[in-house]
Amino acid sequence: MNHPAMPGQRLNAPAYVKNAKLLNWVAQVAALTEPADIVWCDGSEAEYNRLCAQLVAAGTMKKLNPELRPNSYLALSDPSDVARVEDRTYICSERKEDAGPTNNWMAPAEMRTLLQTGDSALFKGCMRGRTMYVVPFSMGPLGSHIAHIGVELSDSPYVAVNMRIMTRMGKGALDVLGADGEFVPCVHTVGAPLAAGQKDVAWPCNKTKYIVHYPETREIWSYGSGYGGNALLGKKCFALRIASKMGRDQGWLAEHMLILGVTSPEGKKYHVGAAFPSACGKTNFARLVPPKSAYQGWTVTTVGDDIAWIKPGKDGRLHAINPEAGYFGVAPGTNYETNPNCMDSLKRDVIFTNVALTDDGDVWWEGMSKQPPAHLIDWQGKDWTPQIGKDTGAKAAHPNARFTVAATNNPVLDPGWDSPEGYALDAFIFGGRRSTTVPLVTEARDWVEGVYMAATMGSETTAAAAGQQGVVRRDPFAMLPFMGYNMADHFQHWLNMGAKLAASGAQMPKIFCVNWFRKGADGKFVWPGYGDNMRVLEWMLGRIEGKAGGTENAFGVSPRFEDLRWDGLPFTREQFDSVIGVDKAAWAQELVLHQELFTQLAFHLPAELPATKARIEQRLAA
Ligand code: GTP
Ligand code: SPV
Ligand code: MN
Repeated sequence: MNHPAMPGQRLNAPAYVKNAKLLNWVAQVAALTEPADIVWCDGSEAEYNRLCAQLVAAGTMKKLNPELRPNSYLALSDPSDVARVEDRTYICSERKEDAGPTNNWMAPAEMRTLLQTGDSALFKGCMRGRTMYVVPFSMGPLGSHIAHIGVELSDSPYVAVNMRIMTRMGKGALDVLGADGEFVPCVHTVGAPLAAGQKDVAWPCNKTKYIVHYPETREIWSYGSGYGGNALLGKKCFALRIASKMGRDQGWLAEHMLILGVTSPEGKKYHVGAAFPSACGKTNFARLVPPKSAYQGWTVTTVGDDIAWIKPGKDGRLHAINPEAGYFGVAPGTNYETNPNCMDSLKRDVIFTNVALTDDGDVWWEGMSKQPPAHLIDWQGKDWTPQIGKDTGAKAAHPNARFTVAATNNPVLDPGWDSPEGYALDAFIFGGRRSTTVPLVTEARDWVEGVYMAATMGSETTAAAAGQQGVVRRDPFAMLPFMGYNMADHFQHWLNMGAKLAASGAQMPKIFCVNWFRKGADGKFVWPGYGDNMRVLEWMLGRIEGKAGGTENAFGVSPRFEDLRWDGLPFTREQFDSVIGVDKAAWAQELVLHQELFTQLAFHLPAELPATKARIEQRLAA
């Protein structure tokens, strides 16, 4: 169909597209970016297969051996485009203080000149020689009152196929949108226009990158990267950065949280939302396999593994839904010993990115097996052997190598994962990656102390973001890279939500703080983690029921050795002390870091937080 707004430009919109705003916007973006063609994605399997075949022909993906890994692909990215780019991510609110000191900010008008309107605007002609895919999607179940529609315009077919797995993508989303529904416009380009006759590369991208959000007009513009959260705009850009601002305005929460269900042998089911920073264990915890020795009859089911939208329900309690439909999970470290459910979900229908290729056409990554295969093609397409790995330190898979797979492939998918009402939460867990200082588990004595724990959480940086790894930084609510507004205002939003819940008399979720990652003198993790995290989870449920014991420390309430169940796990009192202990000197140091955060966030910082800190200091001094 030719569109009146764009004489001569073929929009190619199918007859079922009725939304005038959408048609106009597609025409405008096409006029700006000048794609050679426009394809509207319907989300069908035939379309998925066609695009995958095209990606194979272009050299972006390889089809894996269908006998070993049916209907699965391996994509290798450009070595420079392997993770989120936090220093290139912007929140462009009208006022700088609304982005806050933890976000990069530029005035919207200035950013628009740079990207859209200036003489050398980056998006001008950026799709030349490429196809623009129109990717309509729903975050949340189609048509549900909690879901929101987005449309991503992308010149990357890799993005289109990943979005089909990660979201409810295609014609169904357009049906929900109808003639005059609202959508979040998301524009994405790899920033690599092709001149006539120019040969493409396997993974086009640009050294220059911009991941830009306009929270007030709810728009996303992403330039230069084809990887993960930089490019699959429904995920971090929409469901966290834009949605966190929507949630603040409308009285709900968008959080970097897994959601799980845990059922006791008596058949009582609990629901938990847990916020851990990137590559700190959400995907694993959401599919925890309880140790067989001690936990016969217990089951853990996955509602979501990365993002939760949390709203007060009709019963006054906080209900959580997973807006996504798939997982974009970290591959390295995943194996049958630590997480069989995770491995089983990867048996077929997967897009792997930046893992290694075996000689028989399957995949491998560090930690999948103790003994690596004798020969591999590594994530950069080079020969790799265990010897080369030893000599050069080269990893076969990139540390941020990932799998994209539909939620429905998960053998422990929660039966209510798709329910529009979500589940009322019994607990929130916050947990960073800390080699020292932070105890295995602590319960907040009340909501404010819980908000304090979440707000002051620190974590060592991981390969999920470009930049130095293993550096402790404050990562409030595990949302540092994903906040769409002022972090201090987020603290206040949480305090307000708590006050409202308390006033309504509804059951409040308990708040816990965990750390699976304390290390011993040998540099190894002391706590076995993974399935054994069930022991900590059971203690939390016991606290909710008022049955489990604990002891107060400066920071909250932690279990004593005898408060956890140890059947089937050789773990000594000394080992336990080394992961649960609150060391006064270490905490004095830690509180200096809390103060640094509070100084940084002084504007709008809720007074309850420094007051809570003062109480911790008093307890430490006592
Ligand atoms: P994002 O997708 O980046 O948000 O990460 P995530 O929080 O879902 O992390 P994920 O579960 O993928 O785990 C990241 C890394 O931590 C993987 O290498 C895991 O094997 C490892 N990991 C997960 N849980 C544990 C645990 O309990 N103990 C230890 N030691 N490592 C863990
Ligand atoms: C994270 O970094 O927290 C992720 C991966 O979940 S990405 O989608 O790239 O943001
Ligand atoms: Mn994440």
